[in-house]
Amino acid sequence: MAKPAVIRSISSLRRTVGRWRQAGANIALVPTMGALHAGHLELVRQAKRNADRVAVSIFVNPAQFAPHEDLASYPRTWKTDVAALARLQVDLIWAPSPAEMYPDGFAARIEPEGPAKAGLEDAFRPHFFGGVATVVAKLLLQVEPQFAMFGEKDFQQLKVVTAMARDLNIPVKIIGVPTMRERDGLAMSSRNAYLSPNERAVAPTLYRTLKDSASRIKSGDAVAAALAAGRSEIERAGFVVDYLELRDATTLAPVASPKHGKMRLLVAAKLGRTRLIDNIKV
Ligand code: PAJ
Repeated sequence: MAKPAVIRSISSLRRTVGRWRQAGANIALVPTMGALHAGHLELVRQAKRNADRVAVSIFVNPAQFAPHEDLASYPRTWKTDVAALARLQVDLIWAPSPAEMYPDGFAARIEPEGPAKAGLEDAFRPHFFGGVATVVAKLLLQVEPQFAMFGEKDFQQLKVVTAMARDLNIPVKIIGVPTMRERDGLAMSSRNAYLSPNERAVAPTLYRTLKDSASRIKSGDAVAAALAAGRSEIERAGFVVDYLELRDATTLAPVASPKHGKMRLLVAAKLGRTRLIDNIKV
């Protein structure tokens, strides 16, 4: 089985993807921060379905972590990541160092608005989407893929990246991939590795409550009452809730009436020192 090429410099990346493009190949990019789990690998499978060549980037992006956040302790599992990507016959792993991505004198930052200012993740991580939009724009310009895959797990991020690529006229199709879950419903996440056994046992409450609240809303309960009940359910399980919100699935604008069109229910909550997010269609 051919191992993926591990590329660490922009010049070498350009040579490789340039050859592919000249040969007429379609390219799909899967941006990740590593610590790969089955959710990431599902993005890779979808990428393979869409394109002739698949590149996966592994870059723990300092620009999207605040000083008090978990940049230093973010899980890094390079060897098993490479082995998993080799099994899926990924063509290329793009793994630049922070200095290659942000050389001395680096002075550009994208400040996304619209879905990046919806009052969800942005209210709790104000630096986050600027860092994500900047690195994703760079990754798209470095690899120049026809397709880039993003998980619905990070629903607001998917909206921010889609708007950014559209607004900056980056010629790429952003493809959203449904959330992969553990058997008990917990959304897969690299940060689940932080959970203690007790916390891990409690964590599926998040998804269970999302489903309960969504079905109450669909069956006609008042939105505010359903959300308040959901919030106390999550708190009873031991979480500190950042938000539980019903939003328009396209714009992420708040929704008051359950008669609204496509809706999304989104949650973020802390369990001990671990912050978890999830969302479902309503
Ligand atoms: P990371 O958290 O590593 O996630 C990489 C991609 O995997 C994202 O598009 C995310 O939504 C998707 N993903 C994560 N868990 C998933 C799950 N359970 N099911 C389906 N997809 C899932 O998100 C980032 O990295 C970064 O912000 C990045 C976009 C790479 C920019 O630095």
